[in-house]
Amino acid sequence: MIKKILVLDFGGQYNQLIARRVRDLNVYSELKSYNNTSIEDIENGAYSGIIFTGGPHSVYKDNAPSIDKRIFDLGIPILGICYGAQLIAHLLGGVVEKAEDKSEYGNTEINYGESDLFDSIQKNNVCFMSHTDYVSKLPNGFIVTAKTKNCPHAAFENRDKKIYGVQFHPEVTHTREGKEIIGNFVRRVCGLEKTWFVEDFAKESIEKYKATLKDKKVLLALSGGVDSAVAAVLLSKAIGKNLYCIFVDHGLLRKDEADNIEKVFKNNYDLNFIRVNAVDKFLNDLHDVDEPEKKRKVIGEDFIRVFEEESKKLGKINYLAQGTIYPDVVESGNDKASTIKSHHNVGGLPENIGFDGIIEPLRDLFKDEVRKIGVSLGLPKEIVYRQPFPGPGLAVRIIGCITKEKIKILQDADAILREELESSNIDNMPNQYFAVLADTKSVGVKGDARTYGETVVLRCVSTEDFMTAYFTRIPFDLLEKISNRITNEVKEIVRVVYDITSKPPATIEWE
Ligand code: XMP
Repeated sequence: MIKKILVLDFGGQYNQLIARRVRDLNVYSELKSYNNTSIEDIENGAYSGIIFTGGPHSVYKDNAPSIDKRIFDLGIPILGICYGAQLIAHLLGGVVEKAEDKSEYGNTEINYGESDLFDSIQKNNVCFMSHTDYVSKLPNGFIVTAKTKNCPHAAFENRDKKIYGVQFHPEVTHTREGKEIIGNFVRRVCGLEKTWFVEDFAKESIEKYKATLKDKKVLLALSGGVDSAVAAVLLSKAIGKNLYCIFVDHGLLRKDEADNIEKVFKNNYDLNFIRVNAVDKFLNDLHDVDEPEKKRKVIGEDFIRVFEEESKKLGKINYLAQGTIYPDVVESGNDKASTIKSHHNVGGLPENIGFDGIIEPLRDLFKDEVRKIGVSLGLPKEIVYRQPFPGPGLAVRIIGCITKEKIKILQDADAILREELESSNIDNMPNQYFAVLADTKSVGVKGDARTYGETVVLRCVSTEDFMTAYFTRIPFDLLEKISNRITNEVKEIVRVVYDITSKPPATIEWE
């Protein structure tokens, strides 16, 4: 069994980041919620180390998240971060109190002492703090190993038992050398070498599916997004023509995207690629729909219906494969529940199609790991590094009712925006960029004639998590070039505007 670290989730906002930091060290990590992980699970899990995450609670309050104290007797090294550190102190007889005027937030100067955790780390350093409680008294057997101006026990440890607590957040980049601190825990304290490589994982998965699926048939819904695409190529390497990929073409993808997806899968991989042309059905069902949520609903339902119909034509299929990834599984805080993706990510499929089970080859992987596998299996960059694209596609970027003509206008304008941005080499490349067709006609002049035509909006945002976003400051010269090209090359468009709203208050999409 591969050696691994358990990241025990107490509800803090950086929990996935901790698990990813460990994986970046080429060590496998699992993120599990404290409230459905028993001491027996931990004992049987063969973990080489445990990290307690931060969390928003106070350890001394009733019903605060906690863990069976026997965890400290298992002989497994433990690192507690923020709430996790306070929990260690609290459970082992120390005192945690409200920090009152001593709470700290943001980058804070810190002084590290002697500790395996701080080996080869600069002693006077900067860490990221975010706490309103603090450990005022250490449990017996613990010594202090770092201090800040306001925090007398910024780090502490029981060396013999290999139990460590840090009040700050080594997982965030604001903590200088924070990755090295996690690295010291994983390598020096837990003694773990580099053993986790996603490329090996891919190879092993392929072998595993080869052996277990043999001649069973598997069906997968391909959306063109990175997750379902990587799941498809991985399975195709294992079972070849026993994999059936249904790609529902609803006509709402970006310019040439559907043809490109077909080309990639037909030319490069051994599988059954089934492109279903359902453009007319979708457009028909959407023809008088202008309300955004209704559009989503219609598209979701149509998708399921088309998929169901097509799959029936294939005869007996044994398994349904899905591109579920690790964040889909752990987001709920309950890692035992397999979250079926909702319709927009191609899933949410009815259970009664009659499969023997569901296969999720990527359910242990983070997005960046899925991308690495995609590259290693030869998927092109446009698919592997595709910017997020909403499942309902251009339907939510055409304000008001949708027609074939409007789709074509938007596709053309959007393609120009993407082409110009991608060839521009600007250093603040937005994380998501697209065009929106506003439901607003406006007056223009083309040649000497007055025109009355469409308005297109350019939307470019910079964001880390897509939960909040800033509009990107695209250089005016580039915006001018894009605007000129759009009005010259897309004859229906007479006006181009740039959206300068951040999220909040606006959302990234217009609908
Ligand atoms: P908003 O517009 O909510 O978008 O700020 C945040 C991110 O989610 C994407 N998005 C969707 N993705 N189905 C999807 O699969 C949807 O219905 C949907 N709506 C928004 C959006 O593109 C952005 O990346």
